Amino acid sequence: MIYIYLYLLATVLFVWGIKGLTGVRTAQRGNRMAASGMLIAVVAAMLQAEALPWWGLAAALVIGAVIGMRLAIKVPMTAMPELVAAFNGLGGAASAFVGLSYLVYVISQKAAEASSTLVSTPDVSMSSAITVPISVIIGSATLTGSFVAYLKLGGKKIVHPFKGAARNTAHAALGFLILGLSLYLVMLAEGSTMQITAAIAITLLSGVLGVLLVIPIGGADMPVVVALLNSYSGLAAAASGFVINNLLLVVAGALVGASGLILTKIMCKAMNRSLGNVLMGGIDDDSQAEDAREYSNIKESSAEEVAMLFDGANSVIFVPGYGLAVAQAQHTVRELAEELEKRGVDVKYAIHPVAGRMPGHMNVLLAEADVPYDKLYELEKINGDFQSTDVAVILGANDVVNPIAREDSGSPIAGMPILDVDYAQTVVVVKRSLSPGYAGIKNPLFENDNTLMVFADAKVALQDMVKEVKEL
Ligand code: TAP
Repeated sequence: MIYIYLYLLATVLFVWGIKGLTGVRTAQRGNRMAASGMLIAVVAAMLQAEALPWWGLAAALVIGAVIGMRLAIKVPMTAMPELVAAFNGLGGAASAFVGLSYLVYVISQKAAEASSTLVSTPDVSMSSAITVPISVIIGSATLTGSFVAYLKLGGKKIVHPFKGAARNTAHAALGFLILGLSLYLVMLAEGSTMQITAAIAITLLSGVLGVLLVIPIGGADMPVVVALLNSYSGLAAAASGFVINNLLLVVAGALVGASGLILTKIMCKAMNRSLGNVLMGGIDDDSQAEDAREYSNIKESSAEEVAMLFDGANSVIFVPGYGLAVAQAQHTVRELAEELEKRGVDVKYAIHPVAGRMPGHMNVLLAEADVPYDKLYELEKINGDFQSTDVAVILGANDVVNPIAREDSGSPIAGMPILDVDYAQTVVVVKRSLSPGYAGIKNPLFENDNTLMVFADAKVALQDMVKEVKEL
């Protein structure tokens, strides 16, 4: 019975862990607490699962830990969202397998009973009869949807087989078919082999639905989808907790499901979208990307010129984006900021909620370089300051400063709040070329009269600027 107390301890650590993750300063501690909770949970499961040899679970624990550690060390920060998407998918797969293997278990017990080698059959409660299809549907759709998200985050283009209204009709038809099959599965006699056939069909169809639902979600809306899939993987885990009667799995799944939903809501707010709009408002083609590199009125500048601008400036706002993470230039931007501050310049950092490729990406990146947290300003707090700012320096950001979001209702970022950098006296954009950002669209900011382009890797450009500023 000791496992009950261990489960309780793990639950407390999960909740404390999540509480810790709500603050930048306490996040690492929160992460350690939740990870310890998970370790305790696995040990408790070993103690509870008398049917399995302890060494089998211990081996799984060691293999999982080694793979996890290798991934954590090797995967670059910029590939984190893909890793999170893959983890969500694997969580979904585990839940679908729990549902399917439970049915196989019940069927094998029934067969054993029929051949009278067993006296009692497992007690299939109504709740597990219902939660098996739930864990299979959500688990399978999360698995395939997450892997489509994984490919899309990696820049792969995937085309949906249906367009326009036919697309929603196809999704709805598939949804009803899955629902019908689930009802059929619940109503079938317990332990009948048809249950497993129906469950396999549900798994496959849900997998197809997962793929079809995620393909059309494009442009800048991926953060919402990754958060939603994260929440689904939690819900699938909670459902499989009901299937195998494991309370801790129910609690952990519910925590992930609820926190994922809250994150989804925050992401929707950041993008100024409703969830329905994200899920139903797919983009049919990529015609927007065609003119994404055609610009006129581009004014190229250099580190030396920018240093001269800094010389006459009282206020500078740095706007970090995905490119700063790619260039790993967080330490260099802090160095430049410190040089400017020594000269009496007021320096701030403007943080857009979806800058980079994962929630809080820029906060984590700048915290790594010990940029003081009170210099980081969120969108709502900083937008009013651009008008009175001398120089706004855009470091590898693109979509989050694209003024198209304010006007073009057909654009994938239409309606998304942006950082109003174009209101600053001078805008310096540091990027390697005129390539578009994640949404694949043109950015008219680059053509503005008050915009100067520095075409270079962000780290190289910042190093040059530090050198030039020191020589002023
Ligand atoms: P993006 O719009 O993706 O633009 C990044 C820019 O960085 C590119 O235009 C690229 O231009 C430049 N770049 C790349 N490597 C560089 C380097 N080494 N040095 C200098 N510049 C470099 O980034 P953003 O403004 O941060 O916007 C984020 C986008 O990702 C949004 O559309 C958002 O919706 C989406 N997204 C966000 C998340 C989360 S949760 N944050 C998750 C998934 C997707 P060059 O190639 O010309 O250098």
